[in-house]
Amino acid sequence: MCGIIGAVAQRNITKILLEGLLRLEYRGYDSAGLAVVDKFGNFNRFRCLGKVQKLIEATQNKNLIGFIGLAHTRWATHGIPSEVNAHPHISEYIIVVHNGMIENHEQLRKELISCGYFFSSETDTEVIAHLLHLKQKQHGGSLLEIVLQTIPQINGSFGIVVMDRRNPTILVAVRIGNPLVIGCGVGENFVASDQLALLSIANSFIHLEEGDVAEISCDKINIFNVMGNIVNRNEIKSHIHYDITSKGNYNHYMQKEIYEQPTAIENTLRGRCKNKEIDLEELGVNIKFLKKIRHIQIIACGTSYNSGLVSRYWFESLANIPCDVEIASEFRYRKFQVRKNSLLVALSQSGETADTLAALRLSKKFNFIGSLAICNVLHSSIVRESDLYLTTKSGIEIGVASTKTFSTQLTVLLMLVIKLGSLNGMNLEVQHNIIKAIQTLPYRIEQVLAKDKMIEEIAKDFFNKNHALFIGRGDHYPIAMEGALKLKEISYIHAEAYAAGELKHGPLALIDDKMPVIVIAPNNELLRKLKCNIEEIRTRGGLLYIFTDQNTDFKDTYNMKIIQLPYVENITAPIFYTIPLQLLSYYVAIIKCRNIDQPRNLAKSVTVE
Ligand code: M6R
Repeated sequence: MCGIIGAVAQRNITKILLEGLLRLEYRGYDSAGLAVVDKFGNFNRFRCLGKVQKLIEATQNKNLIGFIGLAHTRWATHGIPSEVNAHPHISEYIIVVHNGMIENHEQLRKELISCGYFFSSETDTEVIAHLLHLKQKQHGGSLLEIVLQTIPQINGSFGIVVMDRRNPTILVAVRIGNPLVIGCGVGENFVASDQLALLSIANSFIHLEEGDVAEISCDKINIFNVMGNIVNRNEIKSHIHYDITSKGNYNHYMQKEIYEQPTAIENTLRGRCKNKEIDLEELGVNIKFLKKIRHIQIIACGTSYNSGLVSRYWFESLANIPCDVEIASEFRYRKFQVRKNSLLVALSQSGETADTLAALRLSKKFNFIGSLAICNVLHSSIVRESDLYLTTKSGIEIGVASTKTFSTQLTVLLMLVIKLGSLNGMNLEVQHNIIKAIQTLPYRIEQVLAKDKMIEEIAKDFFNKNHALFIGRGDHYPIAMEGALKLKEISYIHAEAYAAGELKHGPLALIDDKMPVIVIAPNNELLRKLKCNIEEIRTRGGLLYIFTDQNTDFKDTYNMKIIQLPYVENITAPIFYTIPLQLLSYYVAIIKCRNIDQPRNLAKSVTVE
């Protein structure tokens, strides 16, 4: 959370910082700021409450010149969103931007106050600025030296970038718990929380590793560990194009990303389905290792957790492998038992989710057979810290609501199920049928996307609603959960999901003609059971929206709307049924005039606990 960008160059970098910030806004958007210093040490700082656009407006016509600078878009952790709490924070000549949390900030604050420091903000970040300043005053030394001396005093997770306005040629960046990437230019260098911010100005990147401290000038990048010893890091060329982050003809990133799902799934499948078999050679392990796996332990948060829940049905029913799925923030703080030959699977779009990363790190202390990341970001922490990884090839996802990364996560999970199933004696014909179903999925999704007008129409019914209930059975219960999460996240309508069989154990009390109940009703072996649950709602005057197959015999009535969807194979139905629910949330949020891509209080990459 929070987006950082820094630059040191021989040209004015103000615009680069502001444009970079716009691309980092998905990481936090409650306030923004920048500080630039020109060649002569003249310094300017601007901060404002609200989005980066406000900062852009505030700095317009100010003729800001900076050859070195830092900028930040904030997701508040310590201190309310406000101008004074916005970064960069300053201690006389030391300027700091920070992503993460300082756990011992209260103690440090007290100590600094007793040394005569005055705090102008409520943030933990200001502590870093003053600490560096104090170190400098007490012992002197270069910016790098004082940073290295200060790090051991700070507990917590932090990606920080620091500059000293008296020496406007050097930036120092530290990665402890929060990602930072250096963009390498010619006679200029940059640093940011995500390479996305730097795509228009660099195509070669160094991903800092945990504990790295980088000293960055126009023509040199030196990287050290926290002990101050030099370390080598590879420079990697990026093939990501600047353009792919634009909205194209769509109104919102979320809309674009929903529509990209057929292609994202095709890309995710490419090279992995060969001769009617799943080929996961990229894992680089031998069959013997895969054959040993006797249990899967999935850890994840949010939407990624929901995809893990779907896969549990698949692992157990198709691959005969017991599977447990747990929210990472719960897993990491309880005493768990590791099953024999258990593979830990970390699911994450961003690969930076703090709780998932911490749970992955914790798992290394236990006797899991290994760890596997399923992730959309190749150079992310979760990928780098897992023994094995499989990437979802969705392309960058910018909308805060996960859409295409959910469907591609499920695609990868299903491939893994087939692979492990095949080693566990899964019938060849069953394997082929599933593979055929996955390969047909992009086409099926195209067909469901073509129903978007119908879903837009239904969304109008939700304009005045404050609550909604989503129900499903079997592997569609997690899809109901995902539908509810999406609706609450972007429309702010309170939504809950229930396993349909649970209704009579409590939630039926909520049913009246004002409570919309969204039913995920694919044409599968549980449909008869689900119909009984639908009747329970109907006879109590409930308002039903049934997402179902064109071949089921539901009839539209005044309090029961049927959303007939094209045929889909049962195995891939959970992925397929997610799409209309994404569209429903999207259109409801439009009607309610919500900020679709940046819903309130949220951020795309949750790098704090
Ligand atoms: O990057 P991750 O998949 O680890 O993120 C986990 C959640 O924060 C994320 O899925 C969140 O729930 C989404 N915004 C939901 O749309």
